[in-house]
Amino acid sequence: MAPSNLTRHIQALDSAHHLHPFTTHHELRAAGPRVINRARGVYIYDADGNEIIDGMAGLWCVQVGYGNAELAEAAREAIETLSYYNHFFQTTTPAAAELAAVIASKTPADLNQILFASSGSEANDSATKLIWYYWNLQGKPQKKTIISRARGYHGSTAIGASLSGLPFMQGIFDLPLPRFHHVAPTPCYYQYGAPGESEEAFAMRCARAVEDKIMELGPENVAAFVGEPVMGAGGLMTPPKGYWPEVERICRKHDILLWSDEVICGFGRTGSWFGCETYGFTPDIITMAKGMSSGYQPISAVALNARVAEPIIAADSEMAHGFTYSGHPVAAAVALKNIELLERHQLVGARGAAAAAKFQAGLNALQDHPLVGETRGVGLLGAIELVRNKETRERWSASGATGVKCRGHCFASGVVMRAVGETMFLCPPLVISDAEIDELFVRVRRALDLTWRDLH
Ligand SMILES: Cc1ncc(COP(=O)(O)O)c(C=O)c1O
Repeated sequence: MAPSNLTRHIQALDSAHHLHPFTTHHELRAAGPRVINRARGVYIYDADGNEIIDGMAGLWCVQVGYGNAELAEAAREAIETLSYYNHFFQTTTPAAAELAAVIASKTPADLNQILFASSGSEANDSATKLIWYYWNLQGKPQKKTIISRARGYHGSTAIGASLSGLPFMQGIFDLPLPRFHHVAPTPCYYQYGAPGESEEAFAMRCARAVEDKIMELGPENVAAFVGEPVMGAGGLMTPPKGYWPEVERICRKHDILLWSDEVICGFGRTGSWFGCETYGFTPDIITMAKGMSSGYQPISAVALNARVAEPIIAADSEMAHGFTYSGHPVAAAVALKNIELLERHQLVGARGAAAAAKFQAGLNALQDHPLVGETRGVGLLGAIELVRNKETRERWSASGATGVKCRGHCFASGVVMRAVGETMFLCPPLVISDAEIDELFVRVRRALDLTWRDLH
C-alpha cells in the first residue's frame, strides 16, 4: 500500500531535520522512516493505520503496555500540583522522597540508598563516578579500573560507551576512555561454548576470565565489575548456570565492587523485581531505568548498599554530582504509579509468572522451524538464533543480513522483533494476555516462514 499523505509529510520533515540515534543517516533519509503515531496495550500503529504487536515493549521498557489511563492521570495531577522542582540546595519533593523509599523496599539486601537520574546512561555515569568517589574516600585512589564484558551494553554517553563492550560504538568517537577494560568470552553458551563443554564448565571458564583480567590489571587497581544479569542489546544472552554466584565470589575475594546493570532486567523483566534475584547474586550497586516508569517518563536510579553509601553519606566533602532533572517530580510520580500497577496487577508476581511460562513455551515451540538453531529466554525475554545448519550452527551470513531480512518480514507480518546480527529478540510488555501471546507467535512464525522462503 502506498504511504498516506500524513506519512509522507512526517517523513519529509524528519528527513530534513532529525538526526536519529544509532542510525546511518543517508540510508534512513533515502528509505524514509517508519512513522508510529499511536499505541494502546501491546499494539503500536503506524500513520497508515497498520496494527503491529510491539514484541520489544518499545526499547525494552513498556512493562504495563501503552496508553495506561492511571499513568496519564498521575502525570496530569503531578504537573498541576508541582510541575518541576529540583533536589539541590537542601530541598526535596514528596514524589522523589516516596519513590526512593519504594525502590529501597524492592531492591535486595541493603541496597537502600537511591540517587536519581533521567536515563540508563546517566545512571551508569553516576554509578561510575560514585564508585571512584567511594575508593577515594577509602584512601585507595589507585583503585579506579572498571571491568565489563565484551558485547555488554551500558549506554552511549562517553562513560556508557566505554563500559559497553561493542567496538562499533567506540572507535569512531576515540573511546573507550582510560580505566575501562573488557573481558571475553561473553557468557553465552550457545554462541561461545566449546564443542563438548558442559554449560557449567563454560560458566566457570567465563568467570575465570573475569578473575584472570583482575589479576592481569592487579586487584589493587580494580574498582568494580559490571554486567547485565541477562545481556540485552549485545545479543540477548542468558548467563550459563552458576556464572553469577561464581563472579560474586571472585569479586568478594579480591575486594572488588559488584555492580548489576538492571536497566533492562529490572522491574519484573526476568520474573523478579531485579535480575540479580533471578540469578542468585547480591551486588553492591544496581542501576535501573526503563521499566521503572514503563518508559512513560525519562527516569533512572542508582541503588547503593550500606558499604558504598555510608562513607559517601559521612563524607565532609560535597558529593558534587547531579542533574537539573534528578528525581523530577512528574517523572517520580509516574514511576510510583507504575510500580503500584506492577504490584497491584501482579505483573511482578503470579500474573507475570503465568505470562512468562506461556511466552517461554511459545518461544520453545519455534525450535521445530528449519531456520531456528536455538531459542533461549527467561521471564518475558526471548532470543531466536537464525542458522543455515542446526547441527553446526553455521550462520547465513557474517554481516547479519538475514537478521535484517527477518526484521523486515516481522513488520510486514505485524510484529516488532529486533535483530542483532542473526539473533532476533523478543521483549513484550508484561501485560501481554494469553491470546496476545498466541497471536504474537503466529506473526513471528509467519515472519520466519517468509524469511526462509526468501533464502531458498
Ligand atoms: C543494560 C543497559 N544499560 C544502559 C542502557 C542505556 O540506557 P539509556 O538508553 O536510557 O541511556 C541500556 C539501554 O538499552 C541498557 O540496555
